[in-house]
Amino acid sequence: MASVPVFSAAARRLEGKVALITGGASGIGEYAAKIFTQNGAKVMIADIQDDLGQSVCKNLGPSVASYIHCNVTNEAHVQNAVDSTMAQYGKLDIMFNNAGIGCYPKPNILDNTQSDFEEVIKVNLVGPFLGTKHAARVMIPAKQGSIITTASTCATIAGVAPHAYTTSKHGVLGLMRNTAVELGKHGIRVNCVSPHVVATYMTKTFFDLDDEDFANIYSNLKGAMCKKEDVASAALFLASDESKFISGHNLIVDGGFTIVNPAFSMFEKL
Ligand SMILES: NC(=O)c1ccc[n+]([C@@H]2O[C@H](COP(=O)([O-])OP(=O)(O)OC[C@H]3O[C@@H](n4cnc5c(N)ncnc54)[C@H](O)[C@@H]3O)[C@@H](O)[C@H]2O)c1
Repeated sequence: MASVPVFSAAARRLEGKVALITGGASGIGEYAAKIFTQNGAKVMIADIQDDLGQSVCKNLGPSVASYIHCNVTNEAHVQNAVDSTMAQYGKLDIMFNNAGIGCYPKPNILDNTQSDFEEVIKVNLVGPFLGTKHAARVMIPAKQGSIITTASTCATIAGVAPHAYTTSKHGVLGLMRNTAVELGKHGIRVNCVSPHVVATYMTKTFFDLDDEDFANIYSNLKGAMCKKEDVASAALFLASDESKFISGHNLIVDGGFTIVNPAFSMFEKL
């Protein structure tokens, strides 16, 4: 009988694995690079903020982290990031399509420009398409791999972010599900992690939120706020063999936000 893997909190859950993380120079991606390496992975950080990305790698340690300039909207860049990871570390076990941008809220569609809309779609949807495609190119011959894309609570609900952002995140769910169907026969798992609002450069800049706003973001968990580590830990789970039977899944990290309609408070009356 095959041995049953035993996982403990103390185990290095990505020992021997290699990960490519787009948008790893800041925010959720930076935190993921930290906990992936703490758990034994080697990481390649791909981003457009070169100084920041290089300094993240320096802090993590040059023996476990490298940086490559990569604009995820450019197929040659993404291809080069995957090929450089293969050249440097010999394989690619985990592709984390995490790079993303927000956009300034313009609730009236008449104020939304085509170029603003296309820019968000390019980074948030075309980027993960290219990342998934080129990761699959090297994972198929290896007959294994875990591809994770950062979606959002805006992938399943509407009305809490601009049209372009909501559309892009709904799109990555479809991309994830379709590619999970195709790539399963090669032993490749494809999933999304979907954060609620986290205090990062993106939310502070595009949604103009300050510390008090973050403290008041609604979730169903009293006093809890979504933090970078909550999202990165969910990605760690999807990257690790602990989730070896999970594919085509959207792991929502939102404290119950998307399942509760606060307009109904029937239990409060009991
Ligand atoms: N912060 C939140 O509340 C929140 C909620 C849901 C989903 N997300 C998603 O999480 C992901 C990470 O965002 P974050 O909050 O950590 O923001 P962030 O701004 O801190 O990090 C995003 C990173 O992506 C990089 N990036 C942007 N455009 C790029 C491009 N064209 N090519 C390569 N890299 C690029 C940036 O340089 C940056 O390092 C995004 O996909 C975002 O949509 C964030």
